[in-house]
Amino acid sequence: MKSVYSTTWEKGLKRSIQGRTSVFILSDSNLPYKYLEEVERQCEGDLPVYSFSLEGGEKIKTLEVAETIYKELINVGADRKTLMVCLGGGTITDLGGYVASTFKRGLELVLLPTTLLAMVDAAIGGKNGVNLNIEKGGLKNQIGTFLEPKFIGLNTDWLESLPDREIRSGWAEMVKHSLLDSHSEFSKYLYVNQNIELGDLKAMIPESAEIKQKIVNEDPLETGSRASLNLGHTIAHAIEAIASNECEDVTHGEAVAWGLVFALECSTEFLGFEEEWRDRYIEMIIEGINAPITLHSAEQMWEVMLTDKKNQFNNVTDVLLHPRTSTNPPKVDFIWNKNEFTKKWDDFRKKHS
Ligand SMILES: NC(=O)c1ccc[n+]([C@@H]2O[C@H](COP(=O)([O-])OP(=O)(O)OC[C@H]3O[C@@H](n4cnc5c(N)ncnc54)[C@H](O)[C@@H]3O)[C@@H](O)[C@H]2O)c1
Ligand SMILES: [Zn+2]
Repeated sequence: MKSVYSTTWEKGLKRSIQGRTSVFILSDSNLPYKYLEEVERQCEGDLPVYSFSLEGGEKIKTLEVAETIYKELINVGADRKTLMVCLGGGTITDLGGYVASTFKRGLELVLLPTTLLAMVDAAIGGKNGVNLNIEKGGLKNQIGTFLEPKFIGLNTDWLESLPDREIRSGWAEMVKHSLLDSHSEFSKYLYVNQNIELGDLKAMIPESAEIKQKIVNEDPLETGSRASLNLGHTIAHAIEAIASNECEDVTHGEAVAWGLVFALECSTEFLGFEEEWRDRYIEMIIEGINAPITLHSAEQMWEVMLTDKKNQFNNVTDVLLHPRTSTNPPKVDFIWNKNEFTKKWDDFRKKHS
């Protein structure tokens, strides 16, 4: 299999344009303008190139914003052979990917991620989606499809403008990948180096993306083992949903970091994950993410967790880790009932609030 980032972004983009009728670039207006100019330059040629910018962030992942983009596509005369190029973080690639897969039943898609999180995670694996706003608040990624992009390009120079907090968020997903592949270089790196150095992280992006791609390739439509990528995410999605209702400022990566801490504690308690590794990772994650968080009540968490797509019959499915010395893959069908979860979560809140 070819590795995710084996072709330069310039070459891959140029190749993807061949045979298209036009190019539509959806970009994040928070980016330095020169990034969009660089991308536009690569698209120059005989085809019309249209750009549309939106300020990235979770708030744009809605059906209403998707509709605005459909209308813009109609305005510029886009057809089924228009290439959609998304330049931005995970919110732009999720939203743009969703629009690309549904507009006129599907446009070809190129993703050019600009956050660390999108480079190692959101842009990989063909999932896209928007959130659904219901009375109780926003439900994460409830509407979405699978669309494998034609090309995903990496330019780590674009990370230079990314705020430190967002670097830490992406780092949390890299830590998740290192827990899913304990033989990875990043896993070894974390063993000796717990500082977050952008230069070092840049060098490890392709490997981290590869870990995700490999898991996706084994189960592209998430009928089984792909669910291991949800490690830490049952809790993370609930934290994010409640935070958004309460107008608290929490990034996806911060929520994931706390979800990983919870998953590590439960992995030791229920599956015998080594205490030494649990403690080592938990200390590193809490220090690395450097973002205290409000842990809401078990009642609130449970209510949101039940709405997750993966759950059935009033139970919640979660992912936990077997010991590192075992060859068992992560347990992707750990089941919580309300009482057990409440007890564990109450202890966790006491310890970390
Ligand atoms: N589809 C998937 O498989 C998948 C996987 C993981 C996460 N996600 C989704 O990804 C989203 C989170 O992604 P994210 O963390 O990239 O969020 P984001 O897109 O909101 O980007 C974070 C912030 O950084 C800004 N930004 C982006 N690139 C920048 C740059 N180079 N310089 C300066 N500022 C920049 C954005 O405007 C935003 O304010 C969530 O919605 C999550 O659900 C999807
Ligand atoms: Zn994630």
